[in-house]
Amino acid sequence: MMKMDFIDLKRQYNLYKNEIDEAIGEVVASARYIMGPQITQMEKELGRFVGNREVVSCSSGTDALLLALMALGVGPGDEVITPPFTFIATAETIAFLGAKPVFVDIDPVTFNIDPSLVEDAITERTKGIVAVSLFGQCPEFDELSEIAERHGLFLLEDAAQSFGATYKNRPSCGITEVAITSFFPAKPLGCFGDGGAVFTSDPGLAEHLKMLRNHGQKERYLHHSIGINGRMDTIQAAVILVKLRHFPKEVELRQEKAEVYNQGLSGVVETPKVLDHNLSVFAQYTIKAEKRDDLKSHLESQGIPVAVHYPIPLHIQPCFESLGYKEGSFPQAEKAAKMVMSLPMHPYLKEEEQEMVIEAIRGFYG
Ligand SMILES: Cc1ncc(COP(=O)(O)O)c(C=O)c1O
Repeated sequence: MMKMDFIDLKRQYNLYKNEIDEAIGEVVASARYIMGPQITQMEKELGRFVGNREVVSCSSGTDALLLALMALGVGPGDEVITPPFTFIATAETIAFLGAKPVFVDIDPVTFNIDPSLVEDAITERTKGIVAVSLFGQCPEFDELSEIAERHGLFLLEDAAQSFGATYKNRPSCGITEVAITSFFPAKPLGCFGDGGAVFTSDPGLAEHLKMLRNHGQKERYLHHSIGINGRMDTIQAAVILVKLRHFPKEVELRQEKAEVYNQGLSGVVETPKVLDHNLSVFAQYTIKAEKRDDLKSHLESQGIPVAVHYPIPLHIQPCFESLGYKEGSFPQAEKAAKMVMSLPMHPYLKEEEQEMVIEAIRGFYG
């Protein structure tokens, strides 16, 4: 049986091995393990990549969300609007700061927050909106920012899965006033551990974020606010600097791989729909399938790794029980959770691997 990975990080490493090993070796030899020069250089290059943003790197995508929400002043008594169909970190960080996540259902086609439902969820306590660019595709940011502006709310992009995507030719992380991404290894741009970044067009906010990332201090041992240790390691920045050089090519390869699946699976399952004004980075290639659980077992029995992102929407997670939502509160999110399945996806998938996945799915439906 041919063996394949869901996301083959070894294959990617072997392609850039020399550059990566050299870059890591430089950091190790320099002993500048924390806030070494590669951190500043990476922040500059990431900022340029998304079109002139200030970038504050940090220890994970989750900490990026936390830092961004802290800098935006989110705290007890506030409400923050967000979708229930996302990774836990999106809402967890809101709740962690003592604020209340207020869920708004998703659009069944893109799986992203449905802007037409947002206004009904706004109250006098609403402080902002955290919109997720799920699976690598941005939500309808023009509609969302119009609503945010009209109500004086912040609009934060959770771009953990969408670095490299575009919306109306604007790069993800460079669309809203504040955005975050994750460099978790399996993300489109991943490092070799945990890492993340906050992006902003507001230099004052960037300064505040830098302070919060480093125990609220501006100068050593003078603490202006309560912060965290949220720094990213220099070694991780060195890895990102190498991978960023190859990243535009990888974004193109992802389009090619997605197209192969689209062609091979059309008429068999519901393939992902990317809106005309969007470019997805396909952090996940997520189909909607009848008899999803049986299909999943069938593929796994043939050695094909698949994943369900996400099987339980956030509004019915035990940790959010006190929010008072029930099964039925968000029908689109619940329907998606029952039908979605992500297929192996990365820039270096081989033709025969994709063939095998396609054949196995077609075979299942006879
Ligand atoms: C939508 C979303 N937000 C936030 C995160 C958190 O990122 P990290 O795993 O780097 O903390 C993730 C990562 O899985 C994610 O998918």
